[in-house]
Amino acid sequence: MTRLFILILFVSLSTACREEPKTTSSLAKIKRLQKTPTVNSADRLDVITFGSCSRHDEKQPLWKSIAEEEPDLWIWSGDNIYGDTEDMSLFESKYTKQLLHPAYQRFVERVPIIGTWDDHDYGVNDGGKNYPKKKETRDLMFEFLGVPKDNPAWDREGAYQSYIYGPTEKRVKIILIDARYFRDDTKRSPDRKSYTPTTGDVLGEAQWSWFEKELIGSEANLNVIVSGIQMIPEDHKYEKWANFPLSRDRLFNLIKSSKSNTILISGDRHIGEISAIEQGDRTLYEITSSGLTHSYDSFSGEENQHRVSNVVSSLNYGKLTIDWDADPISVTGEIKGIGGKDYEKIAFDLK
Ligand SMILES: [Fe+2]
Repeated sequence: MTRLFILILFVSLSTACREEPKTTSSLAKIKRLQKTPTVNSADRLDVITFGSCSRHDEKQPLWKSIAEEEPDLWIWSGDNIYGDTEDMSLFESKYTKQLLHPAYQRFVERVPIIGTWDDHDYGVNDGGKNYPKKKETRDLMFEFLGVPKDNPAWDREGAYQSYIYGPTEKRVKIILIDARYFRDDTKRSPDRKSYTPTTGDVLGEAQWSWFEKELIGSEANLNVIVSGIQMIPEDHKYEKWANFPLSRDRLFNLIKSSKSNTILISGDRHIGEISAIEQGDRTLYEITSSGLTHSYDSFSGEENQHRVSNVVSSLNYGKLTIDWDADPISVTGEIKGIGGKDYEKIAFDLK
């Protein structure tokens, strides 16, 4: 009888265990222990912080300063670790190192996290659709971010996601683009030192149709579009949407036809800068913030016909502040540094 009882207990316990949320890695277990706060879709966002280019094995001196902003949300905008391998256990160990980084651990216990990737956390420098481990690294990133298992992003290929926060008339929609998983090959110049425009595509058709629906159907007061690589700048020789001019035109035409105001966020460059283009009666701004652990200290100048700020070549993070009580509602975008140091700022009203 006792044996039968033990057997029944064992069977029911193992059944119960199978009903636990599935984990694809130890990252999910660490995440669960960390108890990162979540932000509810009804919660109003007043302060959003973001940043990119963070080496998991370097000092990470900005987390304390960012936490002191008391942000409602943190957005990773790419190169969140430097994975750069096809060895998935090595990749996972790098994410583990980041999750267990003492300064980051303190941060994630205070601030909700979302994000997308760029090349290094995708898996290969300047990589596109042919990286063979992209399915695996996508899952690892979602575990690292703690993307809930009921998020539809888990059920499709790629890392694109969208989130909407706030009550009616005080809504922000965050659209996280995946500019790696489906991206066609880049074309290099004959000396291989720069990229030249190609007719290839950045998002792939499934992501384009999702993006169009998210943007054109958006009822939010403000859309925030996040891409690892820069969207507006077109003069520098590195990776950018302008290397795929057909895709860049398609992106800007969709933004132009959206009824909501939009702001762009990017990273990747190891510098911070603010760019702008005019779209009818609106100015479309892009805040590039990079990097969190290493930056282009020896920066000596670079053409950007759309730049409306100085270039920040020290470590930096980005901050968006929305004043919902102002009439009209106003948005301030900033690039800031250690100790909350002010570098660059723009402000605009929602129309
Ligand atoms: Fe990058």
